[in-house]
Amino acid sequence: MSGRTTVSVLVNGTEQRHDLESRTLLVQLLRDACGLTGTKVGCDTSSCGACTVLVDGESVKSCTMLAAQADGASVTTIEGLGTVDAPHIVQSAFTEAHALQCGYCTAGMVLATVSLLEEIPQPTEEQVRIGLEGNLCRCTGYHNIVQAVLAAAEARR
Ligand code: FES
Ligand code: FES
Repeated sequence: MSGRTTVSVLVNGTEQRHDLESRTLLVQLLRDACGLTGTKVGCDTSSCGACTVLVDGESVKSCTMLAAQADGASVTTIEGLGTVDAPHIVQSAFTEAHALQCGYCTAGMVLATVSLLEEIPQPTEEQVRIGLEGNLCRCTGYHNIVQAVLAAAEARR
């Protein structure tokens, strides 16, 4: 694919319309064109999940998708999930369970968790670990992340 294209995406409820190189990835649209740098790039092999966002409610690694493929879609990034004063239930659970250290993986983990809990509202610990296996964390050893997800599931009841 070459040349340029105009992409229109609803990001966190706001229409974002940008003229981009056709090869632009969704993560580049979000970070560079929209200025939403909560979405991270942690690898160049589609393996870390730091770039995870919700596209029409489904978790997607935004480095694996062209921005043009999201044309017409609704995208939620970490900036659109909650606020400092009114955090999303998953964000609160991560905070309370100390489920982060450097925080680089956290936006992706949180959004992957939101998607997981939509799919499996009351997951077992094993289902949490399997559900988040596409998201890597080099700091925490995962234990507190898993506890946070289970706590968020409980809080959603
Ligand atoms: S930056 Fe997308 S999976 Fe690592
Ligand atoms: S908290 Fe540092 S990579 Fe997960």
